[in-house]
Amino acid sequence: MCGITGYIGKDPALSFVMQGLQKLEYRGYDSAGVTLVDEEGLSTYKTKGRLSELEKLLEDKDCPQICGIGHTRWATHGVPSQLNSHPHSNQKNTISLVHNGIIENYASLKEALIEKGYSFQSETDTEIVVNLLDDYYYNDTHDLFEALKKTLKGLEGSFALCIVSTIEPDTIYVAKKESPMVLGKTKDASFCASDAPALLAYTKRILPLEDGQIAILKKESIEVFDFDGKKAEEKWIDIPYDIEAAQKGGYDSFMLKEIHEQPTAIKETLRGVLVNKKIIFKELDELNYKWKKINRIYLVACGTAYHACIFASQILQRNIETPISHMPASEFRYGDPYLDRNSLCIFVSQSGETADTMAAMKLAKEKKAKTIAVVNALGSSMTRIADATIYTCAGPEISVASTKAYTTQLTLLTCLSIYLSEKINDVVADEGLLNDLKKLPDYVREMLKEEKTIEELSHLLDKKNDAYFIGRLLDYPTALEGALKLKEISYVHADAYYAGELKHGPIALIEKKTVVIAIASQSEVAQKTISNIEETIARGAEVILITKKDTQADKFRHVIRLREMNDVLYPIVSIVLLQLLAYYTATNKGCDIDKPRNLAKSVTVE
Ligand code: M6R
Repeated sequence: MCGITGYIGKDPALSFVMQGLQKLEYRGYDSAGVTLVDEEGLSTYKTKGRLSELEKLLEDKDCPQICGIGHTRWATHGVPSQLNSHPHSNQKNTISLVHNGIIENYASLKEALIEKGYSFQSETDTEIVVNLLDDYYYNDTHDLFEALKKTLKGLEGSFALCIVSTIEPDTIYVAKKESPMVLGKTKDASFCASDAPALLAYTKRILPLEDGQIAILKKESIEVFDFDGKKAEEKWIDIPYDIEAAQKGGYDSFMLKEIHEQPTAIKETLRGVLVNKKIIFKELDELNYKWKKINRIYLVACGTAYHACIFASQILQRNIETPISHMPASEFRYGDPYLDRNSLCIFVSQSGETADTMAAMKLAKEKKAKTIAVVNALGSSMTRIADATIYTCAGPEISVASTKAYTTQLTLLTCLSIYLSEKINDVVADEGLLNDLKKLPDYVREMLKEEKTIEELSHLLDKKNDAYFIGRLLDYPTALEGALKLKEISYVHADAYYAGELKHGPIALIEKKTVVIAIASQSEVAQKTISNIEETIARGAEVILITKKDTQADKFRHVIRLREMNDVLYPIVSIVLLQLLAYYTATNKGCDIDKPRNLAKSVTVE
C-alpha cells in the first residue's frame, strides 16, 4: 500500500527520495510527503494528492540536506488530507517518521500520552509512534536507539518505520514488523524503501529486513539488530532484473506490457521445473515430508491469486483422494479451519506481502501445518515464513490489475499438482499434459494474436453498466478472473456464475443487449454451457463465446476459437482474451489503466 523511501549519503537526499516514491506509485496512495534533516532542523513538506502536487510544493525550496525520508500514504486511520499525511513529527519538531502498517493499540497509547500532556494534530495511528518515541527519549533514555527499542516493544500491529531526527541528523533508523522494508547500499550512501523498485536505479543488491529487526543507516554503513539490540545476521540478495524491466517498454500501460510478457513469464516459470518431461521441485524434495500422510490440502490466497487457488484445487482433486479446499485468506484466518501437522497449506501471492495471506500462513504455522508458498516477489515476507517457497518467475508486475502473475500462478500450480499427485497418490504424470505444458508459451503467444478482434468486441461494452461471465468446471475460475479484471479497471459491474446456475436466478437480469461472456473449453461440459448461453440469447443477450475448435457453435455471432490442447491448460490461454477485453473496455472509457481508483497493488493491511 503506502510507499516509504529513505536516503543518507553524500548527495542531496531529495532526489533519491522522490524518484523512489515515483517507482512505488503503483502501490497506490492518496497523499505524499518528505522530511529532510540537518543540524539546523527538520524540514517537512506534505500534501494531499499525487506526487506532482508535492513536487509543486518543493519547486522553490532549497533542499541541500543529505538525509531524508519520504512517504506515499494510502489512508487507513483518518481521511486523505495534508494533516494525516506522513511524515509525522513530535511537537518539538526534532523527530520525524513515516510508517506503513497499522498500530492496533494506538487508542490506549494515545490516551496515556494525552494524560502526560501530549497533543495530536492528526487522526492517524502513526502520530502516536513519534510521540511515544519522544516520551522515551526526552523523559527516560536520552538515547535514541534505546528509546526506539522501548517504543517498538509497546506497539501492537504491523509496521515498517523510517525515522530521522535532529538528535542524530546523520542517521536513519528503520524498524520492521509485518510490513515490508528493504535496504540498499552504495559506496557513498545507504537507502531504504518499502519495495525494491525504488532502489534498483542505485543498486541491485538488497537486504530485506526481517520481522523484529531494526536497521541503523549511516552514509558509510548499515547495521542490523533485533528489537533487543542484539546484532542480527544480514541476508543480502541480488535482484535479477533491472529498472528497465519495471518500465513500460513502449506499451501504453504496464498492464498491456505485462499481458504481452506472458509467454516469456510462463517460459521462465517452467524453467528448471519442467525438465525432460519431469516435474522437479528440489525445494519441496528437501522438505522430506511424509507426503502420503497428508490428510487435507488447503489453497489460500486473495483476489486474483485466490482464483488461481480455485483452479488448482479442481485439478488436484482429480488425482488426489485427500480432501482439498480453497479459501480466501481473509476467511481462512478467522474461519477456524481444521489444521494439524498432516495438513498441507498452499499460499499463493504475487507480492508475498498481502496481510490476510500472511496472517493465514502464520495461523497454519501455529497449528504446525505444512506450508508451501507460491510467490512472485523474491525475498518477500511469505518466503521467509513458509516451510518452502516455489517461485513464479513473472518478473516485476507493476500494474495493479494482475495478469502475468495469474497465468504464471496457474502454470506453476499445474506443475505442483502433478508433483503432489505423484507424491501423495502415486499418480503418473499425463504425458500429453507435459507435452502441452512445454508448448504453453507458444499457445499463449498465439492467443495474443486475437488482440485486434478483442479490441473490436470491446465496443459491445460501450455505455454498458453490467456484464456477465459464465463457465463450468475449470472455466469457472476464468469467468471469475475475467469479471474481476473488467470491474477493477473499467468500473463496469461484472459478475461471474457457474453456467448451470444461471437459470436459478441471475437469468432474471438478462435483457436485450446485455453482454454475456461465456467460456466453454472443458470437453465434458462445453456443450452444456452452450445450451445455457442459448437461453440468454433467447432473451436478447449479446454473447461473446470462447470455445474449442470442434465445439458446435454455429448460432453465435462472436466466437473465438481456442487451439487444441489438454483441457487443464485452457484457463491459462483463455484468460488472456479476458484480460485484453478488460484492457480495451477501460481504454475506450478513458480510465487510468495502471492505477484504478481505490485499489493498491499490494494490500499490506487487513
Ligand atoms: O500480491 P497478492 O497476489 O497476494 O495480491 C492479492 C490480491 O490483492 C491481488 O491479486 C488483487 O486481487 C489484484 N488487484 C487483482 O488484479
